[in-house]
Amino acid sequence: MKKYFFIYFLILFFQSSYIEASANYDAGKSKAQTCIACHGVNGNSTNKMYPKLAGQYKDYLVYVLQEYKSGNRKNAIMNGFASNLTEQDINDLSLYFSKQKGLEVLPSK
Ligand code: HEC
Repeated sequence: MKKYFFIYFLILFFQSSYIEASANYDAGKSKAQTCIACHGVNGNSTNKMYPKLAGQYKDYLVYVLQEYKSGNRKNAIMNGFASNLTEQDINDLSLYFSKQKGLEVLPSK
C-alpha cells in the first residue's frame, strides 16, 4: 500500500512541474501587451531601435530573456523588464512571439 502512495505522489509531483513549465499561448498574448509599445503589434517592430520578436525561435527568446533577467546580457531597458518576469512568463511570452508571422528562416542556398 505504501508503495502505491509513493508512486502516486511521484506522478503528482512530475505532473505539476510539467504543467508549470509548459507554455501557454493565450497567457503569453495577454502578457505581451507590455512589450508591444516597443516591439510592435505581434512583435513586428517597425522601429529599428527595437528588435522584431515575431517569428523568432522560441528557444532563443527563452534564452535571451533569461540572460537579461540574470544580467548576463546588459541593456538598461530589457534588464528592467526581464527582472519582473517569472520562468512561466518567459515561457508564455516566448511561445506567443515565436508563433507570430514575422522573421523567417532564409532558404538555404
Ligand atoms: C521601452 C521599450 C521596450 C519594452 C517595453 C520591451 N522591450 Fe524588449 N527590447 C528593447 C530594446 C531597446 C531591445 C534591444 C536591447 C539590446 O540591444 O540588448 C530589446 C530586446 C529584446 C529582446 C532580444 C531580441 C533579440 O533579437 O536579441 C527580447 C527577446 C525582448 N526585448 C523581449 C521583450 C519582452 C518579452 C517584453 C515585454 C515583457 C519587452 N521586450 C519589452 C526595448 C523594449
